[in-house]
Amino acid sequence: MVQAEIANATPEEVAEFALGSILNGGGSFPGGDKHASVDDWRALADAYHDAVRRSTQSDRAVPILWGTDAVHGHSNVYGATVFPHNIGLGAARDGDLMEAIAVATAQEVAATGIDWTFAPTLAVARDDRWGRTYESYAEHPDVAVDYASRVVTGLQGVPGEAGFLGPGRILATGKHFLGEGHTTDGRDQGDVACTEETLRDLHARGHQAAIAAGVQTVMAAFNSWHGTKVHGHRYLLSDVLKGALGFDGFVVSDWDGFLQVAEDRAEATGRSVNAGVDMLMVGVEWRAAYHDLLQQVSTGAVSMARIDDAVRRILRVKARAGLFSRPRPSRRGAVEGPGVGDPVHRKLARRAVRRSLVLLKNDGVLPLRRDIRVLVAGDGADNIGKQCGGWTLTWQGTGNDNTDFPNGTSLFDGFVQATANHGGAATLSPDGEFAQDPPDVAIVVFGEDPYAEGDGDRDHLSYSALDSEPLAILRRLQERRIPTVSVFLTGRPMWVNPELNASNAFVVAWLPGTEGGGVADVLFRGPNGKLDHDFHGRLSFSWPRHAMHTPLNVGDTDYGPLFPYGFGLRYGDAAADRPGRFDESDSARGLPASDRPRTVGSAYPR
Ligand code: GLC
Repeated sequence: MVQAEIANATPEEVAEFALGSILNGGGSFPGGDKHASVDDWRALADAYHDAVRRSTQSDRAVPILWGTDAVHGHSNVYGATVFPHNIGLGAARDGDLMEAIAVATAQEVAATGIDWTFAPTLAVARDDRWGRTYESYAEHPDVAVDYASRVVTGLQGVPGEAGFLGPGRILATGKHFLGEGHTTDGRDQGDVACTEETLRDLHARGHQAAIAAGVQTVMAAFNSWHGTKVHGHRYLLSDVLKGALGFDGFVVSDWDGFLQVAEDRAEATGRSVNAGVDMLMVGVEWRAAYHDLLQQVSTGAVSMARIDDAVRRILRVKARAGLFSRPRPSRRGAVEGPGVGDPVHRKLARRAVRRSLVLLKNDGVLPLRRDIRVLVAGDGADNIGKQCGGWTLTWQGTGNDNTDFPNGTSLFDGFVQATANHGGAATLSPDGEFAQDPPDVAIVVFGEDPYAEGDGDRDHLSYSALDSEPLAILRRLQERRIPTVSVFLTGRPMWVNPELNASNAFVVAWLPGTEGGGVADVLFRGPNGKLDHDFHGRLSFSWPRHAMHTPLNVGDTDYGPLFPYGFGLRYGDAAADRPGRFDESDSARGLPASDRPRTVGSAYPR
């Protein structure tokens, strides 16, 4: 019932204390080495597995279970394929694509000897100030409902069929249960004040679909509902999830989430287990959690019946995953088939990038010919870390540079590939300056710097209030009569009216991952001048009319977005019927005093 982090518990300690599970949190690697190889990951998985087997007298050792956040590919692992984050995949509206991505992700995770991913996130984000908006597929539950079954099936296989949780398959997690996307003001880990009907109809439907598809684990949410922390909410975690929804796998806490239930840590642990948490994900102090739980049982605060129920659920999942009979972790991947960073997976990821892009404006400058001279500006142009976003190698997705992605391509790399050998050229100029001969077109790639969880919470949605440089670049290029194409890297819709007005075309690329070349595939015509790839993406989040225009969701009574849910231009759409200029005065309306991103601070030391 105790899950420890690999940086805090050695294989010997895991065996000595008979811990049931380990995890690597974001930014945690074998030996603390960001560039740890696939063999290093496998060797560590074997080390935990072997230590547990050595420690027990019988040969019926209960196998260890390793969980990881493979939330957009196996994104903790050096060289892995990093797919677009969920907000971009939501714009693709493509369930087949989602299942294929899940299959590929499972193959890469299994290849490293790991059995379990903490995915899919089924959040329905309702206030875009939330730092986890990009982990949500859409503001409307329909996308989460459609995707939940496809992703769970891609990861696990189909219950009852031969391949279910077989080689190359891994356990999935429906997270976070329940209501995380509905906190007041979008504050991460905040309070949800909505009705039970809204919890049911907006936020639980994705989880129900995941359960119907056979999801084996559910992660409890950090938020509270009407002032009670979900980690201590028996009605939600037991009566609803395990009772009404019939979930028979196990509930894992979020990172030390059980400690938020009460002041006293032992009491908090007991109350969380009694509410329905079966496995305690412990950030650092796993020994304390171990002793706290024993103490709660010895005083009778937690009954043996509850312990038996939790352990039975965990053993049931381990048995279903075949862990009692499968070979050592290093040999669990599919015997043949693609491994970490396989070209087949990267090709799939590049297709996902293409299908996620949303075109908000185009006066005809797009599509581009390949024989032109392109100036590529902006701090996102040649920055794979920025295009991947949070949960990439490191927890926050920061501290990465292009050398950390041996298999990746930046957007600029894609533009070079699209023009070189076709009579054209792409030149990188981050500040947009150029000497004598002017370019035919300038592509300016800009957007949010990587973040995760509460560190990404904002007080408003104005982009230029966070970073005014891209607008300055765009305006300088406009003054010099250079047509501009903006490519916006973002984890959420933002107020960008000034940038829209300074662009001849405006593309939202969300957080596309390592296959940046997918952007060039759509912006440029094919080598033969034909249109190989049109835009496909449609907004899965409504676009704000001003910087405080949130919550803003399809179905609102006073719904009045700048671009509605489902919006997305195609090359064939006439530019003529688009509004010319967007109101640039709106950002001034009620911007909160602090125009810097709000950091509520992490829920736990990392
Ligand atoms: C984090 C996240 C959760 C993640 C877990 C392990 O706090 O809330 O989504 O799976 O910790 O990294």
